[in-house]
Amino acid sequence: MSSRFCHCSSLHLLIGLFIFGSISAISAHENEDPTIKTMEAFSGYPIHESNSLVSDFVSSLSVETQTLQNQIDELSTFSDAPAPSVTRILYTEKDVLARRYIKNLMGLAGLSVREDAVGNIFGRWIGDEPELPPVGTGSHIDAIPYSGKYDGVIGVLGAIEAINVLKRSGFKPKRSLEIIMFTSEEPTRFGISCLGSRLLAGIETLANNLKSTVDGQNISFLDAARSAGYANDQDDLSSVFLKKGSYSAFIELHIEQGPILEEEGISIGVVTAIAAPASITVDFEGNGGHAGAALMPIRNDAGLAAAELALAVEKHVLESGSIDTVGTVGILELHPGAINSIPSRSHLEIDTRDIDEKRRNTVIEKTHRSATTIANKRRVKLSEFKIINQDPPALSDKLISEAAEAASKELNLTYKKMISRAYHDSLFMARISPMGMIFIPCYKGYSHKPEEFSSREDVTNGVKVLALTLAKLSLH
Ligand code: GLV
Ligand code: MN
Ligand code: MN
Repeated sequence: MSSRFCHCSSLHLLIGLFIFGSISAISAHENEDPTIKTMEAFSGYPIHESNSLVSDFVSSLSVETQTLQNQIDELSTFSDAPAPSVTRILYTEKDVLARRYIKNLMGLAGLSVREDAVGNIFGRWIGDEPELPPVGTGSHIDAIPYSGKYDGVIGVLGAIEAINVLKRSGFKPKRSLEIIMFTSEEPTRFGISCLGSRLLAGIETLANNLKSTVDGQNISFLDAARSAGYANDQDDLSSVFLKKGSYSAFIELHIEQGPILEEEGISIGVVTAIAAPASITVDFEGNGGHAGAALMPIRNDAGLAAAELALAVEKHVLESGSIDTVGTVGILELHPGAINSIPSRSHLEIDTRDIDEKRRNTVIEKTHRSATTIANKRRVKLSEFKIINQDPPALSDKLISEAAEAASKELNLTYKKMISRAYHDSLFMARISPMGMIFIPCYKGYSHKPEEFSSREDVTNGVKVLALTLAKLSLH
């Protein structure tokens, strides 16, 4: 029998912490659910007698809210933008310092820490049955230019605190619990979103393409990674791949990044699916020329082609008729960028998403047709229309969602099921592990801007739900 059973408090937990559901749910299914039999065999007590032990355990979960807030604030100072903005770009000096900060906290939490060739950082709390696939959790700490301090960070610092919460409560995991700090969820530097989790999911084309990927300054991905201390002895990034089944479950805590939870006064969002994202780059080329001397009829203005395409993207998105279809031209660059020069080149980066993949693909097709039509009409060259990524949506795992719902109930927190319109590393973890996500409200739904904010109470609630869900999953 495992050492877990030598600890009195752990014994209680085993009795009380039934995996997927509150005690009332357990009682209702107790005859048909084989897990109850297993738990009873383990503990030697009938599960249904453990109501008060569950509530004792749940009320013993205490988050050090002030410490966590201090960490959130401190991490935000590793930034290339003045506060309250945060800019933290992959493999820059600030990113490296922030990574050191996270590894230190993982160490202080007693986790065993490792990093892979692209700098995904893993901190493992070894369970009583270390040979079982662990339960994973985590998120990212990179921050797009002039953004805020909660996006991703809550899922990393919050996960470390969740482990501390469980340790303080006397809990002993059966499966190991592992925090992952993913490399570059944001596409800022190399144009590739969820770079670390895509690689973990074993996407070979990405591992190959990264050998020749450069940033806007023509610095190669591998040189940048090496400057941060990664990818040192290898060009082959397939060492990062994880096998399917490496985790028994993966659950990410994140701010909602939308207004629904706050507007409805609900504490927790249990994510049922993550919308399908796509990104596209487009280049137009014209002849440029003098802004005064070149008359309007002879111009082929690459800037106006870009402007027209940006409006076409909006039109095609709205034509879908669904509120779930969105499209954004987040980057629009003109060359040479002088007030008295007709743009000779333009570059757009288009982000479009939908929970419905087919509808999202229709937007991409229509956008492509518009780019061709606009180029012909304006006599500019469509020199590139490149789909950078065109990912399918991901569904959450039912059992993981149920565990998060049960945790919310046991903590007396209101919750609702919802979709994630933002993408997350969980989108790719879903390829190798059952996946779930927990959302907390954020002020007015603000995200990707400095005003991003979640209250201490909401952060604390999220950490507690994460801690309790991890505890349940670790005993499964
Ligand atoms: C993530 O940052 C996203 O853009 O959804
Ligand atoms: Mn983000
Ligand atoms: Mn994020």
